[in-house]
Amino acid sequence: MNNSSITAIGVYHPYGKIDNAFFESRLDTTDEWIRERTGIESRYFVAADEYTGDMCVNAALDMKKKFNVDFEDVDFIIVASMTPDQTIPNVASQVQTRLGIRNTGAVDICTACSGFCYGLIMAKGLIASGAYRKVLVFGADSMSRAVDFNDRNTCILFGDAAGCVLVESGDENDLFESISGTDGSMGKDLYLSSCKTSINGSEISADGKIHQNGRAVYKWAVTTLSEGLGNLAARNGISLDDVDCFLPHSANYRMLEAVFKNLGIPMSKCIDSVRKYGNTSAASIPMAWYEGLLSGRIRPGDSLMLMGFGAGFTYAGICLRNMLDWSRVAE
Ligand code: UT7
Repeated sequence: MNNSSITAIGVYHPYGKIDNAFFESRLDTTDEWIRERTGIESRYFVAADEYTGDMCVNAALDMKKKFNVDFEDVDFIIVASMTPDQTIPNVASQVQTRLGIRNTGAVDICTACSGFCYGLIMAKGLIASGAYRKVLVFGADSMSRAVDFNDRNTCILFGDAAGCVLVESGDENDLFESISGTDGSMGKDLYLSSCKTSINGSEISADGKIHQNGRAVYKWAVTTLSEGLGNLAARNGISLDDVDCFLPHSANYRMLEAVFKNLGIPMSKCIDSVRKYGNTSAASIPMAWYEGLLSGRIRPGDSLMLMGFGAGFTYAGICLRNMLDWSRVAE
């Protein structure tokens, strides 16, 4: 079984910064409510002519600039997104051509906010099998294209961003055990509809927008994350105290506070991206990782625990050793 390690990271967020006052002027909501219930202070929205594929390319270019990587011999591209530019061609093949990668597989995966972790698990497996050596994994979403700006329950939550990591075959093994799970029976509690009007027999609206039963998702997410982090630690033969930093999907900072209180873990070990960027779905974990590197909270050799969760419902988590060294990043 071949070993794998993450050797580079890149991120991108659009220029359009949206603070909570944007919603105050349009809806029956307040900056105070949004901060109190979610911790969100701002988010960024794509421009009218900017799409998920554009954000992925910009994240890859950021990676190239910072880590001086060569994309030429990338042999597999995975884009995790629920907001692709279009259904076909997939985003990954657009990324292939725009980065000038000659000989590569290219797939999109759709598992909403758990997508980035699923991408990492798949990259690890592809490399372990010996079939591939250099896999580019993206988590990217343009959530502002999917929200209903008349629905105060959802539109205040989300933001747009893309992040990517390069997973390479190497001498050391830095990607450890993973877990994943699904409960499709709760599909109707968080969906982005198309033309179908029901899920598992329950009526849904087919308006092409995201709909969420916030309370139901919140309850499920707190339980799933609390149990999932413990199960992931057990699978890796470690205790939660052995983990240097946790990078759970950044959906709601208050929810993360509840989970970490349950588990008795200090918030200083939880790296989030939600307060600054909103819930960026598949991008939220790489965005948090980058922020953690930039601020010096994540250092080379640190043990990290990542866990994504969201629509499906689905979740996926993985333990890894961070080998990214910000002090060596080119300015
Ligand atoms: O990434 C995918 C996974 N998603 C998540 O993890 C999201 C999980 N859910 C949540 O984060 C929270 O449930 C929300 C932030 C969505 C909502 O917070 P909440 O504390 O659960 O509020 P609630 O849904 O129980 O609603 C409480 C009240 C309601 O009013 P009434 O019925 O009590 O009069 C809502 O209508 O807050 C109202 N409300 C708002 N008020 C002001 C809902 N949204 C807003 C708003 N501004 N934006």
